[in-house]
Amino acid sequence: MTTITPTPDMEINVDIYTQELLLAASNHSIPTLRRLIRENQLPGNPVNVKDPETGFSPLHAAIAAYEPEEPQQPQANGVESNGEAAEQEQEQSAGGSAAETVKFLLQEGAIWNDLDLNNETPGCVAKRIGAAELYEIMVDAGVRAELLLGRLDGYEALSDDDDEEDEEGEGEVEAEQEAEQQEEPTTTTTTTTEPTTETEEATNPSVTNPRYLDSTLTFTNDRLLDADQNGVMMAWESTIMEKSAQKLLPTPGLRVLNIGHGMGIVDTFLQSHQPSEHHIIEAHPAVIAEMKRKGWDQKPGVRIHEGRWQEVLPALVGEGVEVDAIYYDTFAESYADFREFFSEQVIGILEQDGGRWGFFNGMGADRQISYDVYQKVVEIDLFEAGFEVEWEEIEVPKLEGEWEGVRRPYWMIEKYRLPVCKFMN
Ligand SMILES: C[S@@+](CC[C@H](N)C(=O)[O-])C[C@H]1O[C@@H](n2cnc3c(N)ncnc32)[C@H](O)[C@@H]1O
Repeated sequence: MTTITPTPDMEINVDIYTQELLLAASNHSIPTLRRLIRENQLPGNPVNVKDPETGFSPLHAAIAAYEPEEPQQPQANGVESNGEAAEQEQEQSAGGSAAETVKFLLQEGAIWNDLDLNNETPGCVAKRIGAAELYEIMVDAGVRAELLLGRLDGYEALSDDDDEEDEEGEGEVEAEQEAEQQEEPTTTTTTTTEPTTETEEATNPSVTNPRYLDSTLTFTNDRLLDADQNGVMMAWESTIMEKSAQKLLPTPGLRVLNIGHGMGIVDTFLQSHQPSEHHIIEAHPAVIAEMKRKGWDQKPGVRIHEGRWQEVLPALVGEGVEVDAIYYDTFAESYADFREFFSEQVIGILEQDGGRWGFFNGMGADRQISYDVYQKVVEIDLFEAGFEVEWEEIEVPKLEGEWEGVRRPYWMIEKYRLPVCKFMN
């Protein structure tokens, strides 16, 4: 094998090519972009090149150059105008529509949530400059990517010794690799971005459920932290817990199940609605010990179920337990776990007639676009699992100073969307 060491000339060509791509993107010139992509000499997909000074990808550049008064491309019957005549016209004016350019780049495989050096995704730029149409295009791109990732989660690579099946699986593997380039939004219940090096692992250990369940916890009045200083639960979430309990138990005497006791905030509010049965599933031994110390096992109607919901729920169903309401708020679990919960488990334990359930909606809450993407993703997955969901938007208190001593601020947006889910008619 011959190794090619890049000569200074080659580097200059790469720089020029990158700058040409970024310029074409900011001019919204689809024909030039198409030509440059065709002529690509770079390894990898050229639509994901980055400007070394700003970290802008072509998507960032196309969005940052948006001007509100810019003429929209004519559309026939909702079909995108990309005919030859329109392209020539665009080439001549060197300034087509930002929306069409963004859609074109996405079709060519641009990554929807690539970060620039200002820590902004292209969608964040759209939001900041008030480009609502472009923001929506970016949200939809995020939803498509996340849904694909979610679907591929269940895909298992085929074994080497079955050639025929291997061929069938190739497309899926490619799609999986492409989808994996997209960073999954973080949630308060999960950190899905895997560290890549050992040094990184030491300074930024990944939050997995087994690691968390093994870790020593610190309880204070206003927070519960794990051994890596991750915020497992914080007192600022109290209004959210109070409102959730109110919506789930509108009248006294109902049967409720809470998954994840944490600081006991939601359980305290649930108790105040006088449930006739109050089941609590909790997996961390230190939380269980704290619950008992505080006398939770003696409270009216309370039954503590020790262990992970994955094991406890099937046992409760086997026992014939049925409840009118469920609240779900765990920690260090993935979106796939959550989806498994509502797709497989809720049906077995929630009263069919009028039963309702809710969850702590913290997925992607470290940036607005991820929050918006995940709201749509979860809505689609809930619908597929047979649930309708109603959202109520509520204010979140100002959180300045709140994150001192916490490894990662997991809430960076202004409003919380509180979900209540019910079986579809
Ligand atoms: C965010 S806290 C819950 C906070 C709670 N809503 C409150 O109001 O204080 C998450 C809790 O879920 C528990 N947990 C994590 N994984 C679990 C699992 N698989 N099954 C049951 N509990 C789990 C954690 O130990 C922790 O107590």
